Amino acid sequence: MQQRCLAARRAGQTIAFVPTMGYLHEGHLSLLRSGRERGELLILSIFVNPTQFGPNEDLASYPRDLERDLAVAAEAGVDLVFLPTPEIMYPPHYATYVTVEGVTEGLCGANRPGHFRGVTTVVCKLFNIVQPDVALFGQKDFQQLAVIRRMTSDLNLPVEIVGLPIIREADGLAMSSRNVYLSARERQQALALSDALHLASTAVQQGEMNVQALLALATRRIEQEPLAVIDYIEIRDALTLQPLQKIDQAGAEAVLLLAVKFGKTRLLDNHYLTQPF
Ligand code: PAF
Repeated sequence: MQQRCLAARRAGQTIAFVPTMGYLHEGHLSLLRSGRERGELLILSIFVNPTQFGPNEDLASYPRDLERDLAVAAEAGVDLVFLPTPEIMYPPHYATYVTVEGVTEGLCGANRPGHFRGVTTVVCKLFNIVQPDVALFGQKDFQQLAVIRRMTSDLNLPVEIVGLPIIREADGLAMSSRNVYLSARERQQALALSDALHLASTAVQQGEMNVQALLALATRRIEQEPLAVIDYIEIRDALTLQPLQKIDQAGAEAVLLLAVKFGKTRLLDNHYLTQPF
C-alpha cells in the first residue's frame, strides 16, 4: 500500500482517502462519492481498530461483511482498498499513541475513556501510510471530526480534512453501522433522537435562545421512550466544543449533540441549531 501511494504521489496524483471500520452504508458512500470527485486516486481503508474500543465494548461483535464492502467499494469507483490486520497496525512491542487534549474531554470522551486516543493513533498511522491530500469523515461522529481536525492541525499533517453531513434513513434515523444491532422496538424508539433535534432547532428558529430550555425540550422528547437511556444531551460551540451559555453567543455556532443507549447499542446524533432540521 505504502509503495502504491508513494508512486501515486510521485506521479503527481491527488490522493483522496476515506478511513472506515467497514460495514459500509449510505453515509460512507457519500464520503466515497465526494472523495471520487476530489482525488485522482481514491483509497478506502477498512479496519476495525481495537485500540478505540473499551474492554466492555463491541469489538468482537462489531458488524463485518467484507465481501459486500468490496462490492460497494468497486461500485463507488474506489481504486485501492487497504485492509490492514491488527498485527500490521500494532505489531509486538507497539508503544506509541497520539493523545489530543481539550476537545477529547467530555461528551464521548467522558463515557469512553481511551476511545479518542485509539482513534487519533490509528488515523495518524493511516495518514502516514496513505499520505492523502484529502481525507473525508462523517459529521455524525461530530466530536471525532473535531478531534481529528485538532490533531491534523497541531501535528502539521499535510492533509485537508473534509467533514460531510449526516445521511439519514427516510424516517430520520442517522445512518450508522451499529443500527443493525437495534431490535424492531428499539429501532422505532430511536427516532426520538432525530425528533429531539428537530424540536430544538424549530424552537431556535422561533426565537428560543435559552440553552437550558432547549436541553429540557430535547430531554423530554427522549425520555418519552421507555427503552432510551441518555448518555448525554449537550449544546456546545461547534468549533471549540466548549459548552455554550446562550445560542446567540457572539462568534459561536451552536450544535446539539446526543448520545443515547437502546439496550447495548449507543447511538449518536447532532445538528447545528441555527439550521432548520
Ligand atoms: O469513524 C470510524 O469509522 C473510525 O472511528 C475511524 C475514523 C475509521 C478510525 O478507526
